[in-house]
Amino acid sequence: MPSERLDKIIASQLNISRKDARTGIRRGMARVNGEAVKAPDFQVKPGEDIIEYAGEKLNYKKYIYIVMNKPAGVLSASEDKNRQTVTDLVPDGLKRKGLFPVGRLDRDTTGLLIITDDGDFAHRVLSPSKSIYKTYRAELDGDITEETLGIFSREITLADGTVCRRAYLKRLDRRTAEIKICEGRYHQIKRMFGVAGLGVCRLERLAIGDFRLPDNLKPGECAEFHKNELEPIFSGNANSLDAY
Ligand code: URA
Repeated sequence: MPSERLDKIIASQLNISRKDARTGIRRGMARVNGEAVKAPDFQVKPGEDIIEYAGEKLNYKKYIYIVMNKPAGVLSASEDKNRQTVTDLVPDGLKRKGLFPVGRLDRDTTGLLIITDDGDFAHRVLSPSKSIYKTYRAELDGDITEETLGIFSREITLADGTVCRRAYLKRLDRRTAEIKICEGRYHQIKRMFGVAGLGVCRLERLAIGDFRLPDNLKPGECAEFHKNELEPIFSGNANSLDAY
């Protein structure tokens, strides 16, 4: 693990500004391996050195992974001048600089959203070349017919000519379906159903790969996960298509 400046590590882990971290360190609020350190540029090995600030031991994490049950009416963005965003809902204890949602759900879409500061992880989840299927539950304004199932059994060309890779559709009841897609185009599911003459009244993301929205997370709630616990995202995709 390469060395880093003490002020940088404290600022990033505690979500305070570098300036505040520097001031605190100069005032004697920091200890490294039990020794008081007053130099903001003191080099530390994050994860190896024991760093304390304001009497609390830092629990160093290079990246953070937050699983959210996104409620309706909130923007999938890191910040917005006027509207509430998903990062606004992250509790203070999990907040950090650089947090962003892994992919976007529409404002009215609910369900599983991962928020992180790990760009490589996000790329692995989102890259179409990785073919990670995202599963949604869609409530529609009309019946799912044999014709609908036929349309979804091959590539769909959207109204603007965009060709979407094959989605997998399972009818749950007359007007409710589970659908899996492995791309993340703007309003993709709504536009795909549009091709079949159906409107989407409600859309909820249930899973990414084989990682399912935890049952105990109510809308608006989130919880920190270890990266290893998110591994099901990257496994089992092929099998889970068998039921469709
Ligand atoms: N497809 C949509 O139309 N909306 C979403 O939020 C996600 C997928």
